[in-house]
Amino acid sequence: MIFRKYINTYINTYATNNNESILINTALDPNDWKKHRFGLSRGRWQQLQGKCFWITGAGSGYGRSIALALTAAGSTTFISGRRQEKLEDTLGEGVSLGIQMQHCYPVVADITSQASLTQAFSLVSRHTLSLFGLINCAGIPQKPNQGFPLIDGELNSLEDILQTNIIGQWLICKTAMPLLARSDSFRVLFLSSEAGWADTPGHGPYNISKSALNSLGMSFAAECSKRYPEKDIQINVLDPGEAKTEMNQGSRESPYSITSMALTLLSHRKGGPNGHFFHRDGRHLGFGQKEAFLSSLLSD
Ligand SMILES: NC(=O)c1ccc[n+]([C@@H]2O[C@H](COP(=O)([O-])OP(=O)(O)OC[C@H]3O[C@@H](n4cnc5c(N)ncnc54)[C@H](OP(=O)(O)O)[C@@H]3O)[C@@H](O)[C@H]2O)c1
Repeated sequence: MIFRKYINTYINTYATNNNESILINTALDPNDWKKHRFGLSRGRWQQLQGKCFWITGAGSGYGRSIALALTAAGSTTFISGRRQEKLEDTLGEGVSLGIQMQHCYPVVADITSQASLTQAFSLVSRHTLSLFGLINCAGIPQKPNQGFPLIDGELNSLEDILQTNIIGQWLICKTAMPLLARSDSFRVLFLSSEAGWADTPGHGPYNISKSALNSLGMSFAAECSKRYPEKDIQINVLDPGEAKTEMNQGSRESPYSITSMALTLLSHRKGGPNGHFFHRDGRHLGFGQKEAFLSSLLSD
């Protein structure tokens, strides 16, 4: 009986679908984006043209790469983070990749502060009446060498990480909702981590924050589809895997490894997944009792 339960959990968590993991390319060179369109068909690429996205954590790492890929596709992008100079570096990287950056707007914002988000919302609202998507890439890692943080840690070792990785994610969703809800269709993407499915000793606070983020993603998806039954809503959680970013200097993978899967999800036509879990390599994942999304993401 216990064995059967284990098998079910394993299948739910790691279910793959339609061999999509061999069709999603995680090794595309961003310099060649005009040739490969980050893996999208021409039709899917054109779907993104003129759409408006707000991307957090866009001054570095995964947030920057997703923001630049969307800008390359002709989307209007609002890029957020706390450091203005990092947002300007993102603009510079876009220019060096040959992307037209005039519709990419830096919006300094701290997702843990409602006052900061309200100010950012007014700035975004000056440029657009609605948003098609919100991509939540802001996040912080656990402080290193914490030993046994769940046994010995101070209150703030858990509070700080939950403040950014959970409360902040919820606050920006609430803040952006009036602009998202003005669209007939909207998308939200949360960046989780394998930690959200893990129990690695010593990493408890980060594991907890990402597991809670998984729950926020699917609960928010269910609440939005109940609140707005007439709309095409696709709110999903992406496990980005590893890449060399500010928070992970030990990896050799490029943060552009996520762009193909992220844009595949963001360009999906009506009727796509809502409240589901995916890996950047194309795997469809389960979480807890939630089974993996069963249809293909790749048909146009
Ligand atoms: N890289 C990996 O190997 C890896 C693996 C699994 C999961 N992830 C997840 O992927 C996501 C993106 O991380 P990354 O790897 O791209 O790391 P990163 O380069 O450190 O990016 C994180 C971004 O979040 C922003 N940020 C942090 N706190 C913020 C706040 N309170 N308000 C607004 N922005 C804030 C930071 O900019 P400012 O400091 O300027 O605000 C930074 O640009 C995170 O959720 C991370 O947990 C990464």
